Order: sequence, then structure tokens, then C-alpha cells
Amino acid sequence: MKPTFYITTPIFYVNGAPHIGHAYTAIACDVLARWKRLDGFDVFFLTGTDEHGQKVEKAAADAGVEPQAFTDGISAIFGALANTLEITNDDFIRTTEARHKRACAALWERLVDAGDIYLGSYDGWYAVRDEAFYDEDELTTRPDGSRVAPTGAPVEWVREPSYFFRLSQWRDRLLAYYDAHPDFIAPTARRNEVVSFVSGDLRDLAVSRTSFRWGVPVPGDPAHVMYVWVDALTNYLTAIGYPDQTASRWRYWPADLHMVGKDILRFHAVYWPAMLMAAGLPVPRRLYAHGWWTVDGEKMSKSLGNALDPVELIATYGLDAIRFFLLREVPFGNDGNFSRKALISRLNVELANDFGNLAQRTLSLVARNCGGVLPPHGARSDDDAGLLAAAEALPSLLRERLDRQAFGDALEDVWKVIRAANGYIDRQAPWALKKTDPARMADVLRVLVDIIRSCATLLQPFMPDATSRMLDQLGVPADARDVAALGVPLAAGTVLPVPTGVFPRFVEETA
Ligand code: MSP
Repeated sequence: MKPTFYITTPIFYVNGAPHIGHAYTAIACDVLARWKRLDGFDVFFLTGTDEHGQKVEKAAADAGVEPQAFTDGISAIFGALANTLEITNDDFIRTTEARHKRACAALWERLVDAGDIYLGSYDGWYAVRDEAFYDEDELTTRPDGSRVAPTGAPVEWVREPSYFFRLSQWRDRLLAYYDAHPDFIAPTARRNEVVSFVSGDLRDLAVSRTSFRWGVPVPGDPAHVMYVWVDALTNYLTAIGYPDQTASRWRYWPADLHMVGKDILRFHAVYWPAMLMAAGLPVPRRLYAHGWWTVDGEKMSKSLGNALDPVELIATYGLDAIRFFLLREVPFGNDGNFSRKALISRLNVELANDFGNLAQRTLSLVARNCGGVLPPHGARSDDDAGLLAAAEALPSLLRERLDRQAFGDALEDVWKVIRAANGYIDRQAPWALKKTDPARMADVLRVLVDIIRSCATLLQPFMPDATSRMLDQLGVPADARDVAALGVPLAAGTVLPVPTGVFPRFVEETA
């Protein structure tokens, strides 16, 4: 039986249209889901939309539409974006679905039975934009006297009856858990932030609201709706059948990786594990908090009007280039500034020149000089052996990198081999061997085909379209494109299709 791997994106708020920041989280998860499948895992990959709460209710009211109709519309846009991005999710969860409301009610009741929920009243600050409660000492005062959260979000004073989750009682058990599982939260700097937050004065968490209606009703007390984060986090359980722990999808719990942006780590690293422990459920294995994309150094937002539309970017530069660029340009975990200039440079240098030309040069020589037929393996020179060994080492290198979500390092490992192959083709000059030593020419071309095959196979999770066309041109059968298949040589004598470039250069239109 294959080992399981359960990976999730955050579920997206449906208060506005998606931008490239949302696409980023989804693409990063998709690369990992595809990689794990390629590497022999039984993967369950979940994404979806977070549809309740005050923020969404307000966006619907501003649009003059009933919340359900509003969320139906925007959720469909996120679903369509997932298709455009070629996200290979196994399910798409919406928190307004009946299955989700059932799961939320079941988890709530479990927490009540465990004695972890009590009725009280909340007096404090709330930021609708963040859907988060803040302590007085976390706020700063603006010159105009208004108070803002550390995120810059405006806060309002809330006073209402509320159910509380006994978060304070989980403080020591959370700290013990972080201590015993040093890889639970990554990157390390973020982990340290969480540990220091929990080490402080961890208060009980308000988990219900009474001042608006757009949420999951609290079982037995419908004057309250659940706090949107309790509802939202539960999605990870809903999709695998909770509360039915005999459901076949339940085998995926605990999740192997919740991918989140740095802004929502606290909810996942503090509230979520505490709720799960209180409910007697295993805690996810890992959380990774990635950084944020800015545009011209500014946060992307609707109000600034600088949000980058992933659909426009894909139409201009192509999906493979966007997927590649987002994970290549900035070390995962860091913030990055989005620049079209940097994107075009990566596209032209690394994709078109380094990889595209290598494949095109090699395959056109095979077409012209080997009758379009894959040559057999020949005797290996030291130069051949060195290059082949570098490619053979790639799967285990990538496994290690991607298990730590080090996408940029994984791509650099592959590019080292691609650059080495470019050095090799220049040194060996197979085009010149045609007349002097045709047998050696065939050997060199076969080495290059094997290298390109390895790289194209391992790059499939990042650039599914271009690599699939490249593997077609290398004559790799559809069922021999996973990591294990790299151990089986391609059959010499296979007739290859006429090669065509798969990574075109991007030429800027001049007006
Ligand atoms: N609904 C919550 C998540 C609930 S998960 C149980 C939420 N939604 S969101 O739509 O606001 O954000 C979804 C994801 O997009 C978050 O991980 C967030 O960090 C990410 N990004 C939003 N803007 C971003 C950038 N500018 N750059 C990178 N990622 C960004 O939070």
C-alpha cells in the first residue's frame, strides 16, 4: 500500500477576486501534491473557499447581494482559477456546504463534552479585515487617534455574549508539543514567534459571535454563530469525512502539511492544535508559513488597485512560466517583490536558453543525424559518467528539498544539472562528431537524452504542460513518467516525433 500524504491550502475568503498571492499558495501546494504522487504517495490535496464571517457578510452587503448568492459567485471564480492554474486538488470544500456545517457542529459538541467550551462575554478589540481578536497591548495608535492591529487593520471594540474555548489551559501542552516536534512549524523564525506568543499570557479564545448572522449556528444556542476561524479550520476535517472516522478518506488524518501564509500562522499553529488536542484528535504533522508578494514594495490590495491578476499574467507569459517564476525567484518563506522584468529574464534565460535550447539542440541532432530514432547506450567516458551521476542523484536531493518546502533549492539542483549538460554539449560538440566519429556522436546524444528525460520528469510538478510536451518528444510512455520509472532506461530504437521548442522566448511588444 502506498503511504498517504494529505496537503491543504488555506481556504480563501470570498470577499473579493483572487490575486497572484492566492495563486502562489495554491501553486506551491500543487507542486508538492504532484511531486508526492510522482514519488509514489497516495495523495489527498484539498483547497476551497472560506465563506462565512463578518468580512464576507459585509462584502455581500456592499455588493447588494444576499450572502449565499454572493459567495456562490466568488467561490466559482476561485474554482475556475484553480482550473486555470492546473491545480490537481482532489476536493474543493466550501464552508457553506451541509457536510461542513455538520462537521463544525460535531467538533463543537466534542469540545463542549470535553469541558473546553464555556459561556462568557467578550469585551475587547476585533479586526474584521483579519477576522481576529487582539489584546490591547498588541495595538498601535495612529496619528489621527485610531487604533490598528499589528497588521495595520482597523479594530473595533466588541462587547457581546460569547462562548470561549479554554485555550489558556492548553498553553503548556502546546509548548511541550512544539518542543517535542521541532519540525512542526517552519521556517524556524516563524516557529520562534509562535513559541514566544504562546509562552506569554495565552488567554481563552472567544469562539462565537452574536452581533451578525452569517456563520455556522452554535449547537443548542442559535443566537450565536461560530467564530469564523473555528468554522474555517474545521474544513480540513470535513473534507475527509469528519465526524465519520470510518470514512475511507479518514486514512489521510493527520494532515501532513497545512500550507499557510505568514499572516495566518497563529490560527494554525496555536488555536488549531489546541482544538484538536481538546477533541482528542491527532495534530497535523507540519505547518509551513510562506512569505508575501508585494508590488513595487507595496502590499497588494483592492483599495490600492495594485493586485496582480493571475489570469492576465498567465495569458501574457504562460502558465508554466508563472508557476516556475513564483517558486524560483524568491526563497520560499521570504517575502518577494513581483517584477515583470525579473520574470521575463528567468523565462528567457533559464527556460528558453538553458533548458529549452538544450532539448531542442539535442533532439534536432537526433532527428537529423540519427534518423529520428533513439540511440542505444554506448561506452561511458568520464565526462558522460559525471553528468549521468549528477542526474541520478537528483531524485533523492529533490525529495529532501521538497520535504522541507525548499522549492528554490530544488529548482537550483535541477538547474545545476541543466547547466552542466550545456557545458557537456559544448565540450563534446556532437554536431562535429557526425563526420569524425558517428558512434561517439550517438553515445553523446543518448547521454543528453537521458539527462533531459530526468530533468523533464522531475520538473513535471513545477511545469506540467511544457514538461509533458518534452517527454512526448523524448518518446517517454505516459506510464513511465514517475520517479521510479527513471530507473528503467528508455528503449533504444524508439522513433521520436519531430522536435519543436517547448519554451519560447518572450519578446516584449514594442509600441
Ligand atoms: N480564509 C483565511 C484562511 C482560512 S484557512 C483555514 C484566509 N484567506 S485569504 O483569502 O485572505 O488568504 C488565503 C491565503 O492567501 C493566505 O495563506 C494568505 O497568506 C495568502 N495571501 C494573500 N495575499 C498574499 C500575498 N500578497 N502574497 C502571498 N500570499 C498571500 O486568510
